[in-house]
Amino acid sequence: MATAVDNTSWLRDEIAGLKEQGLFNSIRTIESPMDGWVEIEGKRVLNFCANNYLGLANHPAIKEAAKQAIDQYGVGPGAVRSIAGTMTLHDQLEERLARFKKVEATITMQSGFTANLAVIPALVGRGDTIFSDGLNHASIIDGCRLSRATVVRYEHNDLDDLRQKIKETDITGRAIIISDGVFSMDGDLADLPGLYEIARENGFLMMVDDAHGEGVLGEGGRGIVDHFGLHGKVDVEVGTMSKAFGVVGGVIAGSQTIIDWLRQRARPFLFSSAMTIPDVAACLQAIDMLEESTELVDRLWSNGEFFQHGLKEMGFDTGHTETPIIPVMLGEAKLAREFSKRLFEEGVFAMAIAYPTVARGAARIRVMNTAAHTQDDLKMGLEAFKRVGEALEVI
Ligand SMILES: Cc1ncc(COP(=O)(O)O)c(C=O)c1O
Repeated sequence: MATAVDNTSWLRDEIAGLKEQGLFNSIRTIESPMDGWVEIEGKRVLNFCANNYLGLANHPAIKEAAKQAIDQYGVGPGAVRSIAGTMTLHDQLEERLARFKKVEATITMQSGFTANLAVIPALVGRGDTIFSDGLNHASIIDGCRLSRATVVRYEHNDLDDLRQKIKETDITGRAIIISDGVFSMDGDLADLPGLYEIARENGFLMMVDDAHGEGVLGEGGRGIVDHFGLHGKVDVEVGTMSKAFGVVGGVIAGSQTIIDWLRQRARPFLFSSAMTIPDVAACLQAIDMLEESTELVDRLWSNGEFFQHGLKEMGFDTGHTETPIIPVMLGEAKLAREFSKRLFEEGVFAMAIAYPTVARGAARIRVMNTAAHTQDDLKMGLEAFKRVGEALEVI
């Protein structure tokens, strides 16, 4: 009998290295519903980690919609839609999303990540060029790689650099500019009007990933295109229902032509099953709620502004956020992890974010405000930041 070969010792070394550098990410287990407060290790803690911007993940109306849909339609979609057929609910969601986003058509995917993997290779390929913001999300980077197009990265949100890179690039086929709408680690916004102008001048396609703008920016949470009044100008909007909608799922919004093409060519649509029934029903309910009232979106913003103001007053560096995402810049990964650990001891769950999610030396605590937080919650959170900040001599 052959002796077993230890072919993963290199992985153990890698993991040990990560631990040594304070870069090993330990994932907390949540023992309660996802909400403004959660239970971890039997302890109730204030939750500043979730992208559950509007507090819909555990909202009674959303849960009820999912339950009713299960009773009527079951749970799973059966197979990929192009083979097993599409269900009424999926069609309804795409129509409602199109109306909500004020576009001709949409197509849903299993997640925002898959939406990027779906749309980018369907629009550009070998011989084409992608101009991609230097801080774009991993799913855009992977979508670009899958496409086999030439990827030209421009400096984050730097339109002069983009113009320069365009000048220097030999563009033979199609070209597209792709940017995150809200940059998830810093909370800043893409200069979408400027990007659109450059795309228009050059005859390029323009695509924005609005994962953190959906349900957050624009009138009643209609997203970054609405925020800047660019309806009909941005060719492709990618979105997610995993954040503000409180559910899971991805969406691509644009012209009927683009969406028709994606139904023929988007590989995650053709080769992976659709969103589940309760997810779709929950998303439909979320749209109802967003269309009925802006109350949750308004509360999210006032909470974010209150918390950021409080942190700044204490002397924390909150970067250059323009949204309810608040990065508390700390620098070294070890300090950020220690900060997060001490916050947890104070009853606040706020994760440290370090390399490779952000650049080395740019570790931070990222505070995600939500509409599920009360003023008292926020005051308690600020007091915890003050105690830990002082103890670690950050402020
Ligand atoms: C900009 C951006 N795009 C896409 C995604 C992926 O979304 P989902 O969680 O729905 O896959 C995220 C989530 O982290 C994101 O921040």
